[in-house]
Amino acid sequence: MITKRILTGDRPTGRLHLGHLVGSLQNRARLQYDYDTILIIADLHMLTTKPAREDIEQITNNARGLVLDYLGSGIDPERTTIYLQSAIPEIYELNTLFQNLVTVNRLMRLPSIKDMAQVAHIDEESIPYGLLGYPILQSADILLARAQLVPVGKDNVAHVEIAREIARHFNRLYGEVFPEPEPLLSDVPALVGTDGRGKMSKSAGNAILLSDDEKTLTRKVHSMFTDPRRIHADIPGTVEGNPVFIYHDAFNNDREEVETLKSRYRAGQVGDREVKEKLFIALNRFMEPIRQRMRHYEQQPSLVDEILWNGTERMCRIASETMREVRRAMGLDRAMTRIRRALEKYRKAG
Ligand code: TRP
Repeated sequence: MITKRILTGDRPTGRLHLGHLVGSLQNRARLQYDYDTILIIADLHMLTTKPAREDIEQITNNARGLVLDYLGSGIDPERTTIYLQSAIPEIYELNTLFQNLVTVNRLMRLPSIKDMAQVAHIDEESIPYGLLGYPILQSADILLARAQLVPVGKDNVAHVEIAREIARHFNRLYGEVFPEPEPLLSDVPALVGTDGRGKMSKSAGNAILLSDDEKTLTRKVHSMFTDPRRIHADIPGTVEGNPVFIYHDAFNNDREEVETLKSRYRAGQVGDREVKEKLFIALNRFMEPIRQRMRHYEQQPSLVDEILWNGTERMCRIASETMREVRRAMGLDRAMTRIRRALEKYRKAG
């Protein structure tokens, strides 16, 4: 049986947090045993909302951080291919070709484009062409690798649908080159942030990073929001929807301790401080193996680079194979090869 291929990944905008871990990283680490898994570090996608020099200067560092977060979460570099999007020349080419297979109308109707603009503080009139084309570039990622499965969050399902449409459209026009990729939606609900207000996100300042050390973790846990009506330890509190207990449920595997804490909390027999201290201990225990794996790689920075090079090298081979077929199917290969050969000859002669 041929193993199916998975493609998914992240923009290199910063380090990953516990929300990413439960929402996607743990899932990827599981899937890598059954699928040919490829992780993209989508720096070209990052440019659609962060095109400044300072953002670009961060790419190398952020890419290394992402690789560390992946490895810390249990991604095995022997099984999973990790690559840097901008280092694959073919992605620019396929993106350009795909731009003719999607209508502007189709893209403008996607809520995700406006959502991303909003997060980036771009008003609707100022949405760049590249941001509108975000799903086309993402389709090029998916189809360049000829991935069959794309694990994504809710907000990205519509982009995988665009990739399916492009694959179908391309195959109809030029012949079967691409499989129709399917989204793999994780059923884990988004993890709430430490402020209990919305989902965990770095920009909201309510995130616990996988790379946070013990001191940072203590500080973040002790400043978490709890039941706002509970101004004294002897007031009965609410457990449901309380972020401290949501985290206890998610990360404390001492179930008995969690149940005892809950009933004491409901009865007004325990202070927030103790609930948080126990959460800190549990979270710290949970994160220690992640930190350990990260430390292992952090101590050998050249190994992290090598993992990224190796992955990018493998993706280059896949990309050149796909593009050969794309150009042949479209009939672009003849003229292109002829002109390229002539150009080479001309250069040598000069
Ligand atoms: N759009 C993804 C995000 O929200 C990143 C991404 C880029 C991606 N290319 C992809 C995800 C291909 C899955 C498949 O950050």
